[in-house]
Formats: sequence, C-alpha cells, structure tokens
Amino acid sequence: MTSKKKQVWGSHLSQTPAEQNVMFCAGRDVKSLPMADEVLLPYDIWTNRAHSIMLYQQKIISGDILCSILKGLGELEELVQQGKFVLNPEKEDVHINVESFVTEKYGVAVGGTMHTGRSRNDQVACDMRLYLREACLILEKRLLEFAACLLEHARQHTQTVMPGFTHYQPGMITSWSHWICSYVQGICRDLERVEMTFQQINRNPLGAAAAFGTSWNIDRQKTTQLMGFDRVETNTLDCIVSRWENETQLAQVYAFVMNHLSVISQDLIFLSLPYVGMIQIDEKMVTGSSIMPQKKNPDFAEVIKSKASFVHGGLMGLLGIQKGGLSGYNRDTQLTKYMIMDIIRECELAPAILKSVFETLHVHIKVMKQRSQEGFMNAVDVADYLARTLHLSFRECYNLLALTVKYSQQEGKISHTALQKALRESGYEFDILPDIVASLNDSRFVLNQRMHQGAPAPETILAQIEELSAGLSTHTEFVKTATQQLKQAHDACCAFQPE
Ligand code: ARG
Repeated sequence: MTSKKKQVWGSHLSQTPAEQNVMFCAGRDVKSLPMADEVLLPYDIWTNRAHSIMLYQQKIISGDILCSILKGLGELEELVQQGKFVLNPEKEDVHINVESFVTEKYGVAVGGTMHTGRSRNDQVACDMRLYLREACLILEKRLLEFAACLLEHARQHTQTVMPGFTHYQPGMITSWSHWICSYVQGICRDLERVEMTFQQINRNPLGAAAAFGTSWNIDRQKTTQLMGFDRVETNTLDCIVSRWENETQLAQVYAFVMNHLSVISQDLIFLSLPYVGMIQIDEKMVTGSSIMPQKKNPDFAEVIKSKASFVHGGLMGLLGIQKGGLSGYNRDTQLTKYMIMDIIRECELAPAILKSVFETLHVHIKVMKQRSQEGFMNAVDVADYLARTLHLSFRECYNLLALTVKYSQQEGKISHTALQKALRESGYEFDILPDIVASLNDSRFVLNQRMHQGAPAPETILAQIEELSAGLSTHTEFVKTATQQLKQAHDACCAFQPE
C-alpha cells in the first residue's frame, strides 16, 4: 500500500508536495471566499467603538449608554473571533448588522445612539481604510520576507556566471547574483509604493457623515487618535467622493508587484526548462499531471502570471467606477470593495510562494558556467578589450569581432587564429597573445571586468547587496513602527472605560 496522498499525482516525486503551494494553485476551483462585509466586521467594530467613545467624550451620549455599547461590541467581537457570528442578509450590510446586534441586546435607547452624527457612507469609507492600511502592511511584510530571501540567495551566487539574455537569445555573460539583485531592486520600488499608499490611506474620513458633516458637536481628532490614523481627511465631501481612490491606489501597487512577480515566474519557467536546465524547481514546489505520471510542472509560476492579468482587469474596473460620478455618495462605489478584496485575496500569498521556491531552488552552477562559455557571449567584452589596448574605436573592434566570430564557428568560441586572421584582413598589424584570448574566453575573467556601479562583477555585486539590504532595513523599520502604532491605538480603544 502506498501512503495516502491528497492528489492523484505525486508518487514519482522525492518530496511531499508543499500543501500551501497545491492550495495556491488550486485557488477558487475548490475554495469559496468570505463575504465582503464579513471581512469588514472587525473594522466596523473598531469604527463603532471609536465613534461611540468620541460621542461620550463630547457629552453627546452618557457613560451608561457608552458602557452598554462597548459591552455589546465586545460580545459581538468574541462571536466574530469564534466564527459564530453570521451576517443576516436581510440587514443589508455589516453596519446595520452591527447596530442591530447592540440594539437587540441592549435596546434601542442604547443601540439607537450609535449612528448619531454618522452615516453608513463615512462608516464604510472608514472601515475600508482600516482594512486597506492593514492590507498594505501585510503586503509589505510579505515582500520584505521574499526580498530578504532573495538577497540571501544572491550572496551565495556572486561568482555564479551564466548567460544574460536579450530577445530570449544569449547576450552577455552575467551572474546569477546580479540577476537576483535586479528582482530586489524592483521590489524596493514596490515597497516605496506601498508605503506611499499606506500614508495616503491612513487618514480619518469618519465624521464626514453622509458627505456634508453633521450638526452634532463631534470631534474628529478624537476618533483619529482612537483608530491610529495619522490625521483627519478634512473636507467631508471629498472623504466620500474619494472612496474609490484608496482601493485603486492599492490595486495599482498590486499591479506593479504582480508584474514583477510575473517576470520572476517566467524566468523560473524558462531557466528550469529541461532543455535549458540551469536551475531546477524543488520537487516540493512542482505539481503533477493526472495523466502523464512523469510531469513536474511549475504551476505556481503560471498561476502568478495569470493573477497579474487578473489585477490589471481589476485596476481598470476600479478606475472606471467613480469616473464621472456626481460628487456625493453613489452606490457605484460599493463594488470597489469586492474588486480590491478579490485582488488582495488572489495575490497576497504570491510573494510567500516564490519565497518557498527560492529557498529550495537548485542552481546548476556548472551548467550555467558551461552555457556562459558558449555562444560567443564574450564578444562585446573582447571588442572592448581590443579598443582599450589597441586604441581603436569601438566600431572598428565590433567589426573585427564580427569577423572573428564568423571564423571561429567551428571552435564554438573565439579562437586566436580567427582573431589574427580578422586583424590582418582588416589591415591591422597588431598581434594578440594566445594567453590573452584564453583569458577572455574565461567567463569568470570577463565578469570581473565589469566593475562600475550596478554591474555584475562579484565585488560590485557585494556592494549592491549591501545597498539593497540597507534599503530593506529602512522598510522593515517602517512596517514595525506602523504595526506598533496601529496596535497601540486598537488596544487603547478596546480598553477605554467611561469614568
Ligand atoms: N454597503 C454600502 C457600501 O458599501 C454601505 C453604504 C450604504 N449607503 C447608502 N447611502 N446606501 O457602499
């Protein structure tokens, strides 16, 4: 008897497939998603707590009423955490469900005060900002973990020479480390984008009410503090009209992130192709076939590429939703909730999956080196060398190398005889020593010559790794501080007791 496996495939693999990866690839085929407003429940409870505390502090409601509201919200929170609270569809949305819960428990004299000076319009805008800013921090954390893993990988491969491609054709010699560092540099820009988005989202729209403020003497600074926002988003009409903006801003960040992850995915597919064989995806991270028992497929990479496309569609949809809407609240914006939540839920695990792939990746250093010595990928470097030492223009040497490559076809690498022949044919009397040609045919030697800032020489790459690593530390600090601030505000809000 073979051991129980969850998939029909997999007996041919040396490792048990990583469950997270199998689930990631299966996606919505076999899993449903929570309702949008179910996701918002914890945030709506926070918004309600903050608003009610502020009403009490402004002497709009009494301490007794606040106590009952907070008690009701606490009881609801517990049910939510235990997974025992189900939204009642007849109550339309999360906001009415929450208010009704308190009213049903403590009467309308209590629950009925919660909506004083407030509308579902500013409430949902506020809930969404709480949800989205957390989504920003989760994304940033996952990207940071992935980037740190990539840098660790890069440190191990500063000497690993390989071909660099243009048009999918071998171009020039590079290193695996240089390649990996390019990913991290892109992710660093994504991290900047997430932080900018976080900062714009982290402003308080509560108090806008329907869009036009309220006659109650509310204090928006107080709710700002209770929810850990950076500041009030002042104009009440804009607080409502701009609802789509935060969603779209984060969708845009995701579009950039997923485009970066798609390139990484395509690289992994190409470089691990058996015909290329420069890397191998660990058997833990491949998926099998239900008919071809030998298959080891990189499904995760394909899924990531298609998810990028999914985000592009969502981003376009989000951009259109509030385009040309009349200033004010329009129910059109309700759909922005579904769109951004779909994007987040589809993509949030992608960086973690790729991290697992790189942590277990097999790099075939020898194959990379061998390929880097084929295909005349040192031609530019040889031309550069000749131009420098013989004091010729680059174009003259380019032409010399074009001839040399033509005459070296049989050897498969630049031959000394071919170079001499090209020199003579082109009317030059110079002689190049065979040892020099031999050195220039060594891909490690060639790599070591590219030493300017950002180039792939091992020493230069180490400097890049340090620079990138310092950048990651700054972003890690940002996430840490922001997470702490939100937690402190949440804890203080939950602990509040009227005197
Ligand atoms: N569920 C609604 C939304 O997400 C809440 C706001 C409803 N406001 C209204 N005026 N109908 O937009």
